[in-house]
Amino acid sequence: MAKVKRRMSLLTICLPVQAELKDVEVALARSTTSEVELVSSAAQYVLANGGKRVRPALLLLTAKMLGVQSSKAISLAAAIEMIHAASLMHDDVLDNASLRRGKPSANVKWGNQISILVGDFLWCRASEIAIKDGNSKILSSITSAVKETTEGEILEMVRSSDFNLSEEEYLKIIKLKTAMLFSCACHVGALLASASERSGETMRSFGLNLGIAFQLADDVLDYNSKEEKIGKKTGTDLCEGRLTLPIILALKRCKPEEIGVIKEALVANTLDAGAFSAVKEVIERYQTDASALEIARNFAARAKEEIVHFKPSLERDALMAIADYSVSRGE
Ligand code: IPE
Ligand code: IPE
Ligand code: MG
Ligand code: MG
Repeated sequence: MAKVKRRMSLLTICLPVQAELKDVEVALARSTTSEVELVSSAAQYVLANGGKRVRPALLLLTAKMLGVQSSKAISLAAAIEMIHAASLMHDDVLDNASLRRGKPSANVKWGNQISILVGDFLWCRASEIAIKDGNSKILSSITSAVKETTEGEILEMVRSSDFNLSEEEYLKIIKLKTAMLFSCACHVGALLASASERSGETMRSFGLNLGIAFQLADDVLDYNSKEEKIGKKTGTDLCEGRLTLPIILALKRCKPEEIGVIKEALVANTLDAGAFSAVKEVIERYQTDASALEIARNFAARAKEEIVHFKPSLERDALMAIADYSVSRGE
């Protein structure tokens, strides 16, 4: 009999913190109001636009696994999602993106300037929450993550168009721009639970490996998924001339004429459907999407390995399932 592999939805995975995630939605709506009407509407447009809420779920599951359930966990989970939303608002400006979570992105609706400023507003609101409901360690973890996300986006801007970008440097970029916030979400959960230094570091490392896996898989989806499925345009990395792992590996494996096809598409200013298909064919021919996903799976496995020593619980299982989910979103 054929083996049927069932993939759990994120909603099902997050059942142990379902009620808390509902409260996070309320906290997000409450915390994003401003006297300046445009700030409230732009912030709420972005936040009410159907994100997966992976980072708040990580914070809540970590805190609950380590023994704490509190209103502070809810507000800090909302703060982490606000930081994420702010980084997306900035990122869509940097990437000239037009679609986010299936709707026109904020930069298309309100322009780049408003997007940047509302992103800044969200970062500041998140810091206010961390000051009020966190402690100095939590605030320090959050400010470091914001700083590293920014460094990652800047490093990507200056380095990711280099045809000689190495796998190591690419991993450094995604670690900073994406994984540090995942790591922070888990770390804050552990800090809230007053977990031991060792458990805090374990959760940090879990989040870091998971975040790398998540971004690696996301970069593959940019080549082999559909707009309707991911709620954002595919081909954005190629269009913006950014090298990600499927391309880095293809440039190493393919023939000179195929290298020419890739380089031409990377330097073009627009995304030509024919050029995109030609690059996807090279990726498929050398199976570099599969290789990139294999590397992503290794990071997810490393993440799971980190938490295997914690006492078995529904929350620990859910954290492990999120690691699997993050590398199987395209299936
Ligand atoms: C998008 O993150 C940015 C990346 C790190 C790839 P998510 O995939 O978590 O975005 P939303 O919040 O669900 O829209
Ligand atoms: C993720 O970068 C955004 C941040 C980590 C700030 P990408 O540019 O790769 O993600 P998408 O594809 O726009 O979601
Ligand atoms: Mg982007
Ligand atoms: Mg980007």
